[in-house]
Parts: sequence; C-alpha cells; structure tokens
Amino acid sequence: AKDPVRVLVTGAAGQIGYALVPMIARGVMLGPDQPVILHMLDIPPAAEALNGVKMELVDAAFPLLKGVVATTDAVEACTGVSVAIMVGGFPRKEGMERKDVMSKNVSIYKSQASALEKHAASNCKVLVVANPANTNALILKEFAPSIPEKNITCLTRLDHNRALGQISERLSVQVSDVKNVIIWGNHSSTQYPDVNHATVKTPTGEKPVRELVADDAWLNAEFIATVQQRGAAIIKARKLSSALSAASSACDHIRDWVLGTPEGSWVSMGVYSDGSYNVPAGLIYSFPVTCKNGEWSIVQGLSIDEFSRKKLDLTAEELTEEKALAYSCLS
Ligand code: NAI
Repeated sequence: AKDPVRVLVTGAAGQIGYALVPMIARGVMLGPDQPVILHMLDIPPAAEALNGVKMELVDAAFPLLKGVVATTDAVEACTGVSVAIMVGGFPRKEGMERKDVMSKNVSIYKSQASALEKHAASNCKVLVVANPANTNALILKEFAPSIPEKNITCLTRLDHNRALGQISERLSVQVSDVKNVIIWGNHSSTQYPDVNHATVKTPTGEKPVRELVADDAWLNAEFIATVQQRGAAIIKARKLSSALSAASSACDHIRDWVLGTPEGSWVSMGVYSDGSYNVPAGLIYSFPVTCKNGEWSIVQGLSIDEFSRKKLDLTAEELTEEKALAYSCLS
C-alpha cells in the first residue's frame, strides 16, 4: 500500500472547503488508491466550525483518510504537506477599496508563504484558489523563494471547465467529448476564453468547435461574456459564490498536474510566465499546459490571431496593475 500524502486545505471551514475536503478524502484529487492525511487550516473565529468539519470527516468513515489535522496554527498546518490548496483569504466586503482587500490578502499570503517554505515537504505543489488568485500566488512565490516557482500555481481550471460546459450545452454533445479550450490570463472578468484550437469528438472524427458552432458572432461575444461572468451569475442565483464547481475543478487541477494530462489534450493553469506568447515574464498568468511526470509545460506554437492578441494583452495589463498594487501594499 502507498504511504499517505499530506494535503493542506486553508480556509477549510468555508464553503469551498466544505465541498473540497470530502472529495480529497474520497480519492477524487489524488486517485482511488492514494491514502491521504488532511491538514485543515482556518482562523480562530472559525475554529469551532472547523472542528465540526473534522467531526463530519470522522463520521463519514472514508477508507482512504488516514488522519485529520484541524488547526488555526499555520506552522502545524503546513508541516510535511506535499500538496497545498490555498482557499483561505479575505473577501471583498461592501464599501471596501480594492487596495484594502489586496493589502489584507498580501499579508496573509506573505505569512503563509513563509510557513510553507519552512515546513512543507520539499517538492510541495501549491494551488491558490482564493482571490485575487493569480496575484495571491505571485505573492506566495515571492515570499517562498526556496519553493521552485514551477510548484506555485493558481486555479483557472474552473473557468476552463465552464468553457467546456458552455460548448457542450450549445452543441448538445457530451462535455467529455469537448477539449482544448484555453483560458488565458487572469481569473477575473478580463480572462480570455479561447476556442480557436478547441475540438469535439464526433462519430466522423475530431472537428473544430468553430466549424461545428458555425456562429462566430456567438463565439466572439456571448460565449466569452458568459464564461467571464459565470461567477457573478452563480452568486446571483445561489446568493453564494461557486463552491462545488470550484472544489471539483481544484481536484481536476491537482489530479492532472500529478497524474498527467491525456495524450493530445491540454488544460488551463495559472503559472509563472516565462514570456511565452509575449506575455510579460514574472506574472502568474493562465496558459494552456500539458502535464507529465508531475510537471506542467506551456503548450507552444499555437497561432494567435489579432482578436486574441488584444485579449491576451488586456488581461496581462490587468495583472501587471494588480502586481503593482500588491507591491505597493508591501511598502
Ligand atoms: P468562504 O468565505 O466561505 O471561506 C473562506 C474561509 O477562509 C473562511 O472559513 C475564512 O475564515 C478562511 N480564512 C480567512 N482568512 C484566513 C487565513 N488567513 N488563513 C486561513 N483561513 C482563512 O469563501 P469560499 O466561498 O470558500 O471562497 C474562498 C475563496 O475562493 C474566495 O477568495 C473566493 O473568491 C475564491 N474563489 C476562487 C475561485 C477560482 O476559480 N479561483 C472560484 C470560487 C471562489
């Protein structure tokens, strides 16, 4: 039998945490033969609720779950973890300035970066979910210099999956037959959901999404806006933000990163830009990636038309501004 892997979930007493920890304990994230020990971190006001989640994990009697650590101490939470899912953060409240929210999150991600770099397993893979996800991941990277930068990522897989879902609904095809959409850039409304390389498996072979949809006006406007605004639409409907889909996508992100992407298909991940596709280096930016042997690499050589170029640049500009705002909170 395999040794258990320690998986950290921060903000584990929150909505996403409540959906995510049972998925991890059932093997959705790391596979059905991989035992896990869950480390759950939250802040003192949520300690009692966190303990309630721990009680439910015990009650669920998950065969793969070999232990639960529920704590408000970041050092205890980070010790020995090989996977860290950072869901905890400070939400924007009514009347708050962007800078104030950024400042709170910068200080959280700065201190959790230090705890991770000192106490996590040396090859720990980090996924930041909490918003602003890309910039929180960048701050974490800056303050955990001994963690390889390729190990620090942010979640745009939810947006990727939303794009697959919209195409599948539009064409009335199985979502599992749609592949190779791309989310470029920020996990925000400036993200660019790109279908120019996406295909659908049909009885007569793989066909481009553009050819099957045959409605450029829809693809270039409504489709993009729907994916960009989907988070807001969920809040409007549920009065709460996406949680089950966020948790499920976080599992997809880590599973594909660790176990690999299928031959011929890619996924979207927020990763540290090396300047590919003329995206400024030094931003955490969502790219198409393939994964093999526990490492991602950016898919190279895709053609980018003028329409796409503008959208790639616009979301890069927003990330550059967020980065400047984050740095201004440090001084
Ligand atoms: P929530 O408010 O229900 O839960 C957040 C939890 O984090 C709370 O229990 C809170 O006490 C905890 N927390 C706050 N500061 C902390 C700290 N310093 N250390 C540890 N825990 C801390 O929020 P929800 O709905 O679970 O969302 C969590 C985050 O995920 C939000 O920032 C949200 O915007 C983001 N999100 C990101 C998505 C993505 O695709 N990247 C999708 C959906 C949500």
